[in-house]
Amino acid sequence: MKHTDIKDVLADKARLGTKQTVCGWVRTARDSKNVAFLALNDGTSLAHLQIVIDKASGKELPKEASKLGAALKIEGTVVENMNNGTQELNADKITVLGECPDDYPLQKKFQKLETLREMPHIRVRTNTFNAVFRVRSVLAAAVHRFFQERGFVYVNTPLITGSDCEGAGEMFKVTTIGYSDQYKNAEDYYADDFFGRKAGLSVSGQLEGEVAAMAMGKIYTFGPSFRAEKSHTLRHVAEFWHVEPEVAFAELPDIIELAEDMIKYLVREYMEKCPDELKFFEERFEKGLTEKLKNVLDNDFAIVDYTKAIELLEKADVDFTFPVSWGCDLQSEHERYITEQIYKKPVFLINYPKEIKSFYMKQNPDGKTVAATDLLVPGVGEIIGGSEREASYDKLVKAMEDRGMEMDAYRDYLDLRKYGSVPHGGFGLGFERVIMYVTGMANIRDVILYPRTVGSIR
Ligand code: 4AD
Repeated sequence: MKHTDIKDVLADKARLGTKQTVCGWVRTARDSKNVAFLALNDGTSLAHLQIVIDKASGKELPKEASKLGAALKIEGTVVENMNNGTQELNADKITVLGECPDDYPLQKKFQKLETLREMPHIRVRTNTFNAVFRVRSVLAAAVHRFFQERGFVYVNTPLITGSDCEGAGEMFKVTTIGYSDQYKNAEDYYADDFFGRKAGLSVSGQLEGEVAAMAMGKIYTFGPSFRAEKSHTLRHVAEFWHVEPEVAFAELPDIIELAEDMIKYLVREYMEKCPDELKFFEERFEKGLTEKLKNVLDNDFAIVDYTKAIELLEKADVDFTFPVSWGCDLQSEHERYITEQIYKKPVFLINYPKEIKSFYMKQNPDGKTVAATDLLVPGVGEIIGGSEREASYDKLVKAMEDRGMEMDAYRDYLDLRKYGSVPHGGFGLGFERVIMYVTGMANIRDVILYPRTVGSIR
């Protein structure tokens, strides 16, 4: 269907006086004796195009075309809006492509995000979700550009896996048969299943990412990861998008530098490419958002030792729900206190106790901590988790034995430490979490098209 994007009609003054055809959905309609106005949106911009129907000169607004949500094709002439100098369309011909009855759920101007969550197929048609998904797309392109410009190779790691990367028992099972008393034990059951052994949905592409990095030096993955965490929080979903670079010949400080550069790159691209969306989020969702993001660009992130963070938390005059002491896993309330109240900017926490981190992390000489880092940001908490990897075969095997892991599933991974092992590391960025951070959206369910959470799928 030949037509012009509304974004182009709005952006291009050279179109003034020309005939144009636009398509879109009716967002608002106002009718009076001499003139009628429609606000039309086709998804190409946050701004709507005003359609003017000059009834005084005999033009008509068909009843079906004035219904909110109706899909229209409009032919007309681009004219200047006398009040604000933007372009609008003086309609000559209106064709209704799809009628929209009165039970269309978006009749009210503002609806609560909770209400909209009940209709994911409809909420995308609101300004909020229009803006969220445009930002998401711009950031996804920026992720690729950032790594491609630096010579990283994009690899696609498997989503179905036989090895659990994080080892925290959060894997969804992949099976074609149910377990029944026909099987004497789990081993027999898995042997009978599709892959002939236990399989699950990957929680991270890291292990296979390391395989690729040991040949290509610098790689990244960008795809879905799955976590069967039964947590009802504002920042967990069962299916999220994961950006995971892995770098050979790199130690923890190199990984931290890469992560900071990447976050700054994403923020810069967002501020440059989505000014309308940023203004919208600033007005509607987070006062001071623009200033916050400028500060991200202008300042170095803090790097703080876990041990120091615990001292600061212990001294804090705050009643935390979860008590703090060295060795504890930090909860969201602690992470947010550190980044929001103490440092007031993004913070890399480093050198965590080995007991609370994954088996693959590089063991520090103190014998107690590992060269891990989490990036904490105000408003969201952790958005990145990463580490230098343990490159020594013996130390890695010992860490796995200590955790009682099944070695068989990790033979390939262990081989990497046998054949030309090098210092290397990487991190995982939760893509939804960075979108939350730059938009001010407080609930992860509102930055992904169809959120999957415990007890909820549609
Ligand atoms: O800290 P995590 O578990 O680290 C890993 O998976 C490493 N294998 C990454 C690596 O080093 N390549 O997860 C990394 C990030 C978290 O910081 C968080 O932003 C996001 O993934 N994440 C989730 N996002 C949404 N919902 C969930 N359930 C998430 N779990 C992790």
